[in-house]
Amino acid sequence: MMATPLPGLPDRVTIYEVGPRDGLQNEKAVVPVEVKSEFVTRLAAAGLTTIETTSFVHPKWVPQLADAEELLGVLPRSGDVRYPVLVPNERGLDRALANGITEIAIFGSATESFARRNLNRTVDESLKMFAPVVERARAEGLWVRAYVSMALGDPWEGDVPIGQVVSVASRLMDLGCSQLSIGDTIGVGTPGHVTALIEALGAAGIGTDRLAVHFHDTYGQALANTLAALRAGVTVVDASAGGLGGCPYAESATGNLPTEDLVWMLNGLGVETGVDLDELVATSRWMAGRLGRPSPSRVVQALSPESE
Ligand code: HMG
Ligand code: MG
Repeated sequence: MMATPLPGLPDRVTIYEVGPRDGLQNEKAVVPVEVKSEFVTRLAAAGLTTIETTSFVHPKWVPQLADAEELLGVLPRSGDVRYPVLVPNERGLDRALANGITEIAIFGSATESFARRNLNRTVDESLKMFAPVVERARAEGLWVRAYVSMALGDPWEGDVPIGQVVSVASRLMDLGCSQLSIGDTIGVGTPGHVTALIEALGAAGIGTDRLAVHFHDTYGQALANTLAALRAGVTVVDASAGGLGGCPYAESATGNLPTEDLVWMLNGLGVETGVDLDELVATSRWMAGRLGRPSPSRVVQALSPESE
């Protein structure tokens, strides 16, 4: 495909792949550990350099990822690839450190409703839970990302004021995190809202050099919102191979922005990602076969033979 650039976009985008974590945490069936390991390995072979691999959360809360230790035990880890994992508390950090993890992500909520459902805590209590995690992680030399979920809307509370998101985001970043990922957990956001939030975060001192965007595609807005974020200066974009995903504690969440749809757009714009689209599509088709249903990614569908 011939690339046709647009002004005001970065030359290069880092894709933060979340399929193995955000995607597989939402599957009804638990995917066998060998399949997970092959999935992550194939994603790395397709050129993805940051792959959120699993979560060290309570195994009863997310049974789909209860095999985190087992997976990291069998996964051949390449030196050029980063394998961040979700860590909610000190118990999770202990498990991550025991497994040689060097990048972690804490995950806060802009709303009380989701903090309660996802973390069994108020927003204040969850920040208290995260503080020693970030402090200890940094002392151990780990890189720490913070998510702020429900940043563009909440299924129980409806609209979430930008000021409320900025306030929680600032408190998360003040703990000492290096990157903030803006979570549109239920995919309701639209490009003007995304732009306004990024501007408000910038005004509060969280510049685009420290931002990532994490869009679920429930309302078909993820790609448009991503373009808005890129135009606002963001260069790190979360996506999920094949469009797998959701959140077990937010029923209205569907899959994330499919990585293939993102790569197709960025290829067309001449923005470098380092990802081989054909290998990625082949990986998602293989994974769809393992899961027993077609990938929701439009690009995976378009590039797959009709017989499949
Ligand atoms: P809790 O029940 O309040 O836990 O859950 P607790 O602190 O009271 O501890 C209770 C017991 O659990 C203790 O055991 C702990 O040791 C154990 P006991 O002493 O009774 O024998 N425990 C653990 N065991 C293993 N690993 C741990 C751990 N922590 C405690 N890490 C907790 C609080 C935070 C643990 C729980 O709410 C939880 O695990 N939540 C995770 C929910 C989750 O993973 N959600 C999906 C990810 S978020 C998401 O998808 C959004 C995102 O994609 C961005 C977006 O889209 O917006 C990131
Ligand atoms: Mg998510």
